[in-house]
Amino acid sequence: MLVLPVLTYDPLDPATVNNPYPALAALREQAPVSWHDGMSSWLVTRYADCTAVLRDHTVFARDRRRTVATVPAASLSVQSLDPPDQADVRSLFMNALRAQNLPGLEARARTRAAGLLHAAAEQPSFDVMTGLAAPLSLSVVCDLLGVDEPPLAEFAAASDAIMRSMDGGLDPALVEPGRRAREELTALVDSWFADTGRPSGLLAHVRTRIPAGAGEVEELFIRNTARVMFQGGYSTMTAALGNALHTLTRHPDVQYRLRSEPRVVPGAAEELVRFDGPVQGTSRTATRATTIAGIPIPAGDAVVLLFAAANRDPARFPAPDQLLLERRDNRHLGYGWGSHSCIGTRAAQACLRAALDALRTHPTPLRPAGTARRQPSATMRTFAVLPATLHP
Ligand code: HEM
Repeated sequence: MLVLPVLTYDPLDPATVNNPYPALAALREQAPVSWHDGMSSWLVTRYADCTAVLRDHTVFARDRRRTVATVPAASLSVQSLDPPDQADVRSLFMNALRAQNLPGLEARARTRAAGLLHAAAEQPSFDVMTGLAAPLSLSVVCDLLGVDEPPLAEFAAASDAIMRSMDGGLDPALVEPGRRAREELTALVDSWFADTGRPSGLLAHVRTRIPAGAGEVEELFIRNTARVMFQGGYSTMTAALGNALHTLTRHPDVQYRLRSEPRVVPGAAEELVRFDGPVQGTSRTATRATTIAGIPIPAGDAVVLLFAAANRDPARFPAPDQLLLERRDNRHLGYGWGSHSCIGTRAAQACLRAALDALRTHPTPLRPAGTARRQPSATMRTFAVLPATLHP
């Protein structure tokens, strides 16, 4: 009989929330495919195994309805479908993104980031999350979609409830607030779809290209996907900016290099997402009995692919724990892989470059200014508070 090593891995343990990489490395080395009781899932940590699972959507389903689970109507979107059913809605949004002027978006984001840094520099210290990451992300996502910015504080509270509900498997009390917040944002997104006066932006593009014969279900998928782009795009972007800026405050030599060599900005935007990205992983369900790296996986079992572990796999990335701005062949899993990879990747990369550019050209570097606190979350790696200063 196959005896699997038992390792204790608690993603919500405060030390792991603070720095998950030692625990993930131990899993990857000692039990690369292992059952986790608390998460009722198999955890997969090696890069090659994660990409093999993500490639095989016939066996590993994202659509939980393929394994007899029901999915609430509010959660049906591009994220919950598998190919070939997913193809129409995914290409509708991918084409809409391609039609946007991303260099223009990046230039506006750079101006907005520079303004936020300028305002922050007038205070002795500031919170990077509320002073830069959240307002910049909201303005970039709304600019991309072509909608007016909702009030940040209210929207951030709803977005936070949705983000935290992703850990509902570990803490069921998070599910109901997430459902209510999803309803609120659905109403906002529906009002944008009803407003036919908006001439430009991604949503206007999508709205005018909904196929004539689309029924109620297809329209629901489309509106829910717009909500995912809006809320998921905002929360992931905010988390990514916070993580990237935190990393730079902890690596002053790298920040110095960035400030003196503009050409490294695009590579830095990629490497910062590999090094400490926001999305910790994703899940699939086995539609039939199978194996991953020789470990038997029964039909119906859930599988969690830990991007954060795969992105530091030494078999794929030489010196994985080092931040290397000129890392070659940096195809990390920070934006996912395959049929569910991030639709907003190019917009997110533009926003990260804009923030790094604004920071690079700001007269003073960004330095830590107190104790940072992570949000206790197994799914999204982000900060609750990230104090910093731009004072000389
Ligand atoms: C640096 C910022 C971002 C990162 C690191 C990121 C990361 C990811 C990852 C890892 C996935 C795949 C999740 C999975 O396989 O379950 C994903 C999916 C997605 N992302 Fe992003 N994202 C970012 C920003 C954005 C933005 C700005 C938008 C939209 C404006 C966006 C829209 C989406 C959508 C719609 C999906 C679902 C795609 C599908 O399931 O087919 N993301 N993102």
